[in-house]
Amino acid sequence: MTRVYVTRDLPTSILHPLRDRYDVDVWSGDQPVPREILLAGASESEGLLCMVTEDIDLVLLQTATSLRVISQMAVGVDNIDLMECLRRGIAVGHTPGVLTGTVADTAFTLLGAVVRRFPEGETEVRTGTWGPWSPFHLTGGDLHGTTLGIVGMGRIGRAIAKRSTGFDMSVVYTSPRAANDVEAERLDLDTLLEVSDNVVICAALTEDTRGLIGAAELRRMKRSACLVNVARGPIVNTDALVAALESREIAGAGLDVTDPEPIPSNHQLLAFSNCLIVPHIGSASVRTRQQMAELAVENLIAGLEHGEMPARHPAGGQELAD
Ligand code: DGY
Repeated sequence: MTRVYVTRDLPTSILHPLRDRYDVDVWSGDQPVPREILLAGASESEGLLCMVTEDIDLVLLQTATSLRVISQMAVGVDNIDLMECLRRGIAVGHTPGVLTGTVADTAFTLLGAVVRRFPEGETEVRTGTWGPWSPFHLTGGDLHGTTLGIVGMGRIGRAIAKRSTGFDMSVVYTSPRAANDVEAERLDLDTLLEVSDNVVICAALTEDTRGLIGAAELRRMKRSACLVNVARGPIVNTDALVAALESREIAGAGLDVTDPEPIPSNHQLLAFSNCLIVPHIGSASVRTRQQMAELAVENLIAGLEHGEMPARHPAGGQELAD
């Protein structure tokens, strides 16, 4: 019987179609599956359903000689050695589309919160330092009437652009390809950073985007601008971000993702009250996580049955993860 390894427990009803067909082994711990157990599980399986927390690297792929299909419950697949999968003929599935709106909502929520200085205000309320109303206390930027810079115009970038229009914002973007279906101006990154009132990152983490936003890029941003990252932590150089916040080169940051991740509670970034960090929950609405899990299961079954996967990742491509 075909063996399948699932790296995190998922609702019974979602795993049911897998259990119906295959010999399924599920890691049921609350924490990510320990490496040794993952290697053992993958080495005996033809199908692997995994999360962003697993390193699907060369060592694993060399061990897992029977593996035919990897189905990740995420849109981003930077934790998977796609080139090696391509070489080995292993199909890789992911979960684009179903999380687009939820992640775009998260980007907008982070943006609004940091632009209007909510974390600083909330700290005052919680620490009993909320003083009398004062004319220019905690005044921040506006969203309406401003220019939003979107780095990466895939599905999520488009969904953010759509929301921006509703907020009477104008949009500029960078992307390897023109997005002619979006009412937005395509710019090079340097120009985008200079003209944008705020910047949102929603590009895939690839060798091209790792460290894309470093000291020089942060310096190009307006001093009044906030940076939001809902993509992957390593796209922004963390030390450079700390320095930029310290020297007030930018006004604030809203991060759903960090590098390292999870970020230690004593990390320098946490010293800034104008830096709002949430723990990689961009797609974490109940409905979206259910849909992601269902799509991951569908991908795995379709891949193992040699059908067309509903969402096969163009392995090896440098396409935007969204
Ligand atoms: C993704 O889908 O890539 C997210 O980062 C995990 O929700």
